[in-house]
Amino acid sequence: MEITRRDFIKTSLAASLATAIPGNLGLHAGGTDAIRIGMIGCGGRATGAALDCLDAAAGVEVVAMFDLFRDRLESSLAELKGKHPGRVTVTADRCFTGFDGYKAVCALPEVNLIVTATPPGFRPVHFKAAVEAGKHVFMEKPVAVDPVGVRSIIATSDLAREKGLAVVAGTQRRHQSRYLEMMRRIHDGAIGELVGGECYWNQGDLWVVRKTPEMSDMEWQCRNWLYFTWLSGDHIVEQHVHNIDVINWAFGTPPVKAMGMGGRQVRTGLEYGNIYDHFAVEFEYPNGARVLSMCRQTPGCADRVEERLVGTRGSAFGYGEIKGAVPWKFEGGETNPYVQEQADLIASIRRGEPLNEGRRIAESTLCAIMGRMSAYTGRAISWDWAMNSSKLDLTPPRYELGDLPVEPVAVPGVTPLV
Ligand SMILES: NC(=O)c1ccc[n+]([C@@H]2O[C@H](COP(=O)([O-])OP(=O)(O)OC[C@H]3O[C@@H](n4cnc5c(N)ncnc54)[C@H](O)[C@@H]3O)[C@@H](O)[C@H]2O)c1
Repeated sequence: MEITRRDFIKTSLAASLATAIPGNLGLHAGGTDAIRIGMIGCGGRATGAALDCLDAAAGVEVVAMFDLFRDRLESSLAELKGKHPGRVTVTADRCFTGFDGYKAVCALPEVNLIVTATPPGFRPVHFKAAVEAGKHVFMEKPVAVDPVGVRSIIATSDLAREKGLAVVAGTQRRHQSRYLEMMRRIHDGAIGELVGGECYWNQGDLWVVRKTPEMSDMEWQCRNWLYFTWLSGDHIVEQHVHNIDVINWAFGTPPVKAMGMGGRQVRTGLEYGNIYDHFAVEFEYPNGARVLSMCRQTPGCADRVEERLVGTRGSAFGYGEIKGAVPWKFEGGETNPYVQEQADLIASIRRGEPLNEGRRIAESTLCAIMGRMSAYTGRAISWDWAMNSSKLDLTPPRYELGDLPVEPVAVPGVTPLV
């Protein structure tokens, strides 16, 4: 007999709760030692992040997994078990699929850290469920695809702080020695007052999942999520948020305005959904400084993934160099930043001083969204309006593996600003 996803979740949840270890296993930060991970999303990055957690510290186990699709869950489980047989204790009754499976993972008392790396359109809902259930969270960037989602992330981050829960976002540059050292110098005045800068994520193409006759619209979009704005936020949000976050870090504040342009010139086939393939955005900071942001996913063109900050006394480069009055070059000696961010998260939980990166990644996500909104509509966007007044909410009418027509590609000057 075919077991439906919903039945599977119900039965497995009941079974898990029946065998749950009693007592508070560190749902709150203070003094927690054992880290028991529940995964929300089991794709490439979630699997990588779980492995990074296992590499980051002793006393860490993966105990539960959830993915929309069983095949993704199974391949992730096989990889995790292959690499860490003794530390991956996921049993069949702690595996969940379907849209609602996150609720079952969050309900498991033995899970105290949620690692989530689904397409970012789902992040606000998954993050809220995790924090409401009292779990620490590692969540991948970006953390939303629209201003409504960003506000939800900020509210949930505030709730996490009240509950003493840790929140670390996958902006690994924030845990990388060359960036930490460079920022310390910038904030100490090594390049003077910031007057401008540039940031880039220009690269070739990424993977594509083509629709097969058996796939519903929703299944295809969720598998090919990079190319649908409601799922990825477009590549300015999905990838370039890393570089925009570095610029915000340097300025110590998000920008006040974004004005951008972009389009879809090369990736025009149906398989590329409704996102653009290039953007250029100018961000204006509160002191009047303007920063150019550029991102492109087009094969056969010049690649550049980098940040440069210009000050009154010199320039700083994200790869670890300062030129000008107080020159400096990063000398090396850096740990893997993907492992370091997990080490920092786990150490903060164990110290009882939980990190909370929720607001700042929400703010950087909103900057990238502002750039996209400006390019899509042709309008200049102010921070205050985007943060406080925009009603844009890209959530589809229902989460069901059925029909879901693809929204049209945005046209500047025509697409309305919402
Ligand atoms: N920090 C970094 O450097 C970095 C690198 C790569 C990816 N990422 C981020 O990680 C996230 C995931 O990217 P990825 O490369 O792992 O993609 P992926 O396609 O490999 O994984 C996404 C997974 O989510 C699953 N999924 C889709 N909808 C779901 C839902 N509603 N509920 C549960 N699972 C669902 C998919 O089946 C898939 O297994 C993205 O936000 C991406 O931007 C960050």
